[in-house]
Amino acid sequence: MSDLFNKCREYQDAKRVQAAGIYPYFRPIESTLGSSVVTHGKRRVMIGSNNYLGLTHHPQVQAAAKAAIDQFGTGCTGSRFLNGNLVLHEELEKELARFLKKEACLVFSTGFLSNQGALSTLVGRNDVIYSDRENHASIIEGTQVALGDTVKFRHNDMSDLERVLNHTREKYEGAVIVADGVFSMSGDIFDFEKAATLSKKYDCKLYVDDAHALGVLGPQGQGTEFYFGSAAKADLIVGTFSKSFASIGGFVAGEAEVLHYIKHKCRPFIFSAAMPPAAAATVLECLRIVQQEPQHLENLWKNARKMKQGLTELGYNTLKSQTPIIPLLLGDDLAAFSFTQRLYEEGVFATPVVRPAVPEGCALIRTSYMASHQDQDLDYVLNVFEKLGKEFGIIGNVGRQTELAALAHVHFGA
Ligand SMILES: Cc1ncc(COP(=O)(O)O)c(C=O)c1O
Repeated sequence: MSDLFNKCREYQDAKRVQAAGIYPYFRPIESTLGSSVVTHGKRRVMIGSNNYLGLTHHPQVQAAAKAAIDQFGTGCTGSRFLNGNLVLHEELEKELARFLKKEACLVFSTGFLSNQGALSTLVGRNDVIYSDRENHASIIEGTQVALGDTVKFRHNDMSDLERVLNHTREKYEGAVIVADGVFSMSGDIFDFEKAATLSKKYDCKLYVDDAHALGVLGPQGQGTEFYFGSAAKADLIVGTFSKSFASIGGFVAGEAEVLHYIKHKCRPFIFSAAMPPAAAATVLECLRIVQQEPQHLENLWKNARKMKQGLTELGYNTLKSQTPIIPLLLGDDLAAFSFTQRLYEEGVFATPVVRPAVPEGCALIRTSYMASHQDQDLDYVLNVFEKLGKEFGIIGNVGRQTELAALAHVHFGA
């Protein structure tokens, strides 16, 4: 026998980083001004947020949230199944299904619960999940809670997906291929059309997590399917409102019968309180805005292109990013922590990505850009990256850049 808490008392990793003065997590934000924040009394340009369209500070969105509080109060105080189902949730489901051109939609309290809930409800003992190795933690959680097996395939590699389908598909009854539409760390786009062909060939359902694609890809931000604009369709789209849609909450969209089943069987849906009124009203307003005000999506992509070009020209390795998520490959964890700290001191708020989220020796700074970033802020950020790139021996160091390119190739297929 041993004390259950021993591992907590022995855990030193975070304390060592704190003692070194380079701990980058849980920085308390005193106020946010859209694309910048105030922390420790100083304004810093935010390049670590998922607020892609900048809608958290849109006056109509804020007004809608306030009006919902006046009408419904601050919380639902219960699950939608029982006492917490608002007309706002149902209106949101109808509007979102229409926007995504799906039969139906079910709104959850978070995106994490949507993935965990949908996968664990649908995938039974004799079924299988084919999961991209870079999928988000909430998908991994879903695969672990689901009773069926999970078979992983190499990140965004359709020949590896076909290899594993070929070897294993016959052993199982139902099957689903699951991937992020836009990968949250490397910012590349799922090879959706090839995956759709494979899903038909091997009789699998296709499930796409559009957390980072909603509001970002497609003519109005409808997501991955619309970006490809082809006849291929996903059987299920999962997403979150915690990014472009400026709030909190998640959803699953697809066939009405499937959502009816999830609605009555899914524990994370039934036994967790509903998305609060202000959140539902926020998302409804965001949905209207993305359809009526295309300038946000245009600005987002203008800013993303400027930063991808600027960072690449400086000599950073940005993997295969094709979206407003632009990772910078740095190497070891310590370098990523120190780099993030120096960015912070220079007035730039970004976050590092270290083991186990990336392979050992492949730490990144994950940067992401917003519609509301102004050119002067982005130019400032590029100047800081130029200064720090020299300080950390990346810019002007061909040897180091070659090493990083080799790492990117081996571990990220870039
Ligand atoms: C790809 C992906 N899926 C799901 C989620 C979970 O969303 P939420 O923040 O709504 O729980 C995230 C959030 O980081 C994500 O990046």
